[in-house]
Amino acid sequence: MLDTSQRGITFTGSGAAAPESLLSNDDLSKIVDTNDEWISSRTGIKTRHIASPEVTLCELATAAGKQAIANAGITAAEIDLIILATSTPDDLFGSASKIQYLLGATRAVAFDLTAACSGFVFALVNAAQFIRTGTYQNVLVIGADILSRWLDWSDRRTCVLFGDGAGAVVCQATKDGDRLLGFEICSNGAQNDCLNLPFSGQSAALSETVSIAKGTYQPIFMKGREVYRFAVAKVPEVIEKALFRADRTPEQIDWLILHQANQRIMNSVADRLKIPPEKVISNVASYGNTSAASIPIALHEAIASDRIKPGDLIATSGFGAGLTWGAAIFKWG
Ligand code: ACO
Repeated sequence: MLDTSQRGITFTGSGAAAPESLLSNDDLSKIVDTNDEWISSRTGIKTRHIASPEVTLCELATAAGKQAIANAGITAAEIDLIILATSTPDDLFGSASKIQYLLGATRAVAFDLTAACSGFVFALVNAAQFIRTGTYQNVLVIGADILSRWLDWSDRRTCVLFGDGAGAVVCQATKDGDRLLGFEICSNGAQNDCLNLPFSGQSAALSETVSIAKGTYQPIFMKGREVYRFAVAKVPEVIEKALFRADRTPEQIDWLILHQANQRIMNSVADRLKIPPEKVISNVASYGNTSAASIPIALHEAIASDRIKPGDLIATSGFGAGLTWGAAIFKWG
């Protein structure tokens, strides 16, 4: 258990944003050979938000961040650090600095963190390290992705699964008890080929002795069944490890917020941990898999609708490409 007399982290504000355009399962059935029955029964997804061409990742992330800062009752100028978890920045060099500018977070340092659908959990754990060492007081963690731009819209195995959005949480230093009670984060590159968004290029000669690869990133490729098996095996295990570190049991959890990839995965993990369905937060039906954004959007909706209250014990877990996975046990507020 953590020594709570030391500087701790507390979670004080949340926010979320999603593009206006909606794409239903029936809409998708006009694009690829699929139907509402297949998508609903295999994934729980009914509709998803899709970013129109003029929407940028920075805009969505800034809107979510602004709301989280307002809900925390502080100003953007008080933010010391912004961590943007994303796999789909507007700019390959990173989008966090642009978001820092758009928010007016003039004092903050900002950087991107890439860990696919585990990104938000990894970023939250990163934020805690900076706060616990006393380096920073106020950290904005944003999870945002526009995966619709990286899908093969003729591949029914992947294009039905994803949606776009952003979510954010303000983390602050406190001497009044550390609210991140336990965490565990993991990687296994041996299974990297299960889920990729890879660069692929053709060799082009620059001179007689020097060649470069000329190309672009290819759409998402996923071995769905293998990722499914990985998730239902590793997610309960990593939550149990994080609970052990937090000195808590599954019965003590008030809310389970998993990465919103698939309702069947959420049900299976909850069953394994013997957590009843009424404690499982799910919005996968209306967002699909929004990658790094899925956990903070679900968290924000549950807080905004007064389901999650200050002091509630939350178990969260992200999992995805890398392969990466992780869990955090924390108290809201
Ligand atoms: N509509 C209709 N039929 C389809 C569709 C579709 N959209 N997609 C696949 N099928 C067909 C397949 O062609 C296959 O047909 P066949 O048996 O004739 O070949 C059949 O349905 C079964 O396909 P499977 O891929 O085996 O279906 P499965 O039950 O495994 O469900 C799914 C697929 C939903 C993708 C599931 O495997 C899954 O959820 N995997 C985990 C994905 C995940 O959690 N990813 C998280 C990380 S994402 C990230 O990090 C970016």
